[in-house]
Amino acid sequence: MQQAKKITINDIKEKKAKSEKIVSITAYDALMSSIFDGEVDIILVGDSLKMSFGGDNETLGATMEEMLYHTKAVCNGVNISFVIADMPFGSYATKEIALKNALRFYKETRADAIKVEVGLDKIEIVKALCNEGIAVMAHIGLMPQYARFEGGFKIKGKDATQAEILIETAKQLQVAGAFGILCEGIKTDIAKRITESIDIPTIGIGAGKYCDGQILVWSDAFGFFDRFKPKFVKRYCNGKEMLQYAIREYADDIRLGRFPSEKESY
Ligand code: KIV
Repeated sequence: MQQAKKITINDIKEKKAKSEKIVSITAYDALMSSIFDGEVDIILVGDSLKMSFGGDNETLGATMEEMLYHTKAVCNGVNISFVIADMPFGSYATKEIALKNALRFYKETRADAIKVEVGLDKIEIVKALCNEGIAVMAHIGLMPQYARFEGGFKIKGKDATQAEILIETAKQLQVAGAFGILCEGIKTDIAKRITESIDIPTIGIGAGKYCDGQILVWSDAFGFFDRFKPKFVKRYCNGKEMLQYAIREYADDIRLGRFPSEKESY
């Protein structure tokens, strides 16, 4: 259902209290964000753009300048949905660096919040950002920015120790001031326990059905990215095939002299 007015951080937080699911998707430009605007609660300008948009195998190469550019573009297409900008790898390594870079998202774009991939060791960074008035979504579990460090994309919450650490991390992030937790690649029962342990909403991706909301990368959801399909992805259309069909039609039209016709000529 299309929303009518700009969604705020309070609307996002209230949804959990009202047991209303939070619908989220990524976007990297104004063209896509204007299509998704108002249809979803949250639009994330994810650093996944390095993979689905830039063709990389990982997200680590995203720079501040790239994320600012794409966040501006996404905001240009949005009037209603809540926009979150992903802070790229290395841009929140210390409190000072994090503050300097997060402030850039607030000053140079119209993003409503930022997202950081964090564990227990980075709670103080989240606290420092929140104290400065920056709305923070904390990303826990499978953190793509740690892919090289961990030797790949690893599902989390598989053993009791990992599970307890994740739950404790979520609790501490809530105390630090995060307004929401993005749970990626976490066993369903552990994501459920995280969701039940905190008052702020959880948004899941590969974390089962008990999270307060869900997110997918748009090019996965609509079948434009087909290099691989993670188990958690549901495809809602076959975008790549549709577009391939259209580009072939276009090419045939030109080659056969069917385009432009009188109708498209001055
Ligand atoms: O960068 C991104 O798109 C993300 C999603 C995996 C949620 O963080």
